[in-house]
Amino acid sequence: MRILVVGGGGREHALVWKICQSPLAEKVFCAPGNPGTARLAENVAIAADDVDALAHWAAGNRIDFVVVGPEAPLVLGLADRLAAAGIAVFGASAAAARLEGSKAFAKEVMEAAGIPTASHGSFDALGPALAHARASGGRVVVKADGLAAGKGVVVCGDVAEAEAALRSILVDRVHGAAGSRVVVEERLSGPEASVIALVDGERVRVLPPAQDHKRIFDGDRGPNTGGMGAFSPTPTVNDALLADVERRVLLPTVREMARRGTPFRGALYAGLMLTAEGPKVLEFNARFGDPETQPILLRIPGDIVPALLAAAKGDLSAVNIEVDPRAAVGVVMAAEGYPGRVTVGDAVDGAKGPFPPDVQVFLAGTRRGPDGRIVTSGGRVLTVCALGSDRAQAAARAYQALAQVQFRGAQFRRDIGRAGPGEGA
Ligand code: AMP
Ligand code: GLY
Repeated sequence: MRILVVGGGGREHALVWKICQSPLAEKVFCAPGNPGTARLAENVAIAADDVDALAHWAAGNRIDFVVVGPEAPLVLGLADRLAAAGIAVFGASAAAARLEGSKAFAKEVMEAAGIPTASHGSFDALGPALAHARASGGRVVVKADGLAAGKGVVVCGDVAEAEAALRSILVDRVHGAAGSRVVVEERLSGPEASVIALVDGERVRVLPPAQDHKRIFDGDRGPNTGGMGAFSPTPTVNDALLADVERRVLLPTVREMARRGTPFRGALYAGLMLTAEGPKVLEFNARFGDPETQPILLRIPGDIVPALLAAAKGDLSAVNIEVDPRAAVGVVMAAEGYPGRVTVGDAVDGAKGPFPPDVQVFLAGTRRGPDGRIVTSGGRVLTVCALGSDRAQAAARAYQALAQVQFRGAQFRRDIGRAGPGEGA
């Protein structure tokens, strides 16, 4: 098969790496890709959100199967376009991707399906939003309704913080049109987990659960980012809890989307908070997580292509995902300034290794400089991943490899895969 992976981050480098191992993959392309995917596949210079150009290119280049990484092309209808052209696609339709593209819509679906989540209000004007936040004593979470690259969420401790967040989103429009509406949520507490499942419109196959570290600084301090590191498995999600999430969160969501005539196919990501009252959904994503996918794929020894294809074609019934019992940890190295404005163009040294066999470095915001060297070109620059017999060993291996990689202003957390929040250590 000729397979196209859409996207250019660490998640897509990991997907390309995994897909290239499949005997079904004759030729793999990545659009736009990065210097990491270029070593394994052929990069195609089309932006991930240029759905017209992608659909056209796929049709003209005899692509059999497209795997979509990021949310933007899904929300813009890339999966619909490819399906209309008769090309198999792993990724949600625009209608199904609204689960991620609009937090207010996701809340509506959760309410209709009886899925446990924080109580909330949706607002498009400052006055009522502020009144709602005041009534909760300011202990709320303010979320831009639309897509904001993981940065549209502000966890507030008092009314002043809530007001500042509401003003910046609704009035100053720091996230543009994504902030023309806000969701103001009850602030929950507990450890977090990411459960991602392959979905065929009806059935789900959960992947090994992971935990992401969203805050920029050690100890989960500082602003939210797209994710600074992740590990799998997570001690907070045992098999019983995973089964519970499948039964009480994933399946009801999939059923509700099908009932609405907009079945969900692709990767459904539930961001969960494990509260004293049980798991509650913080967000849905209509795609694989980044960086969760990097350590998760390290734990899937089998061929991923038949599973992705089965989800795309609407029948996962024969798919069984085997999981490596070892632990995997992925540590993100980000550019100076991230998650704000970043500096780019700094030479990245040591990313090519050599690394020990259980280490994989997945490139993200990078490009080739004029002299052929890899230079930074975005916020999250790469993810250093490692497998180990347990999480401590995996983390130690990842950090040992990370020490080989250098660029000016590199930011990374030193506590990824160490005791997580709520683990008491
Ligand atoms: P989201 O993008 O909606 O997952 O939110 C990003 C991060 O904000 C989450 O990973 C949590 O750490 C935090 N968060 C989101 N919603 C809530 C909530 N209702 N209560 C407490 N923290 C939250
Ligand atoms: N790591 C969080 C996300 O992919 O949304």
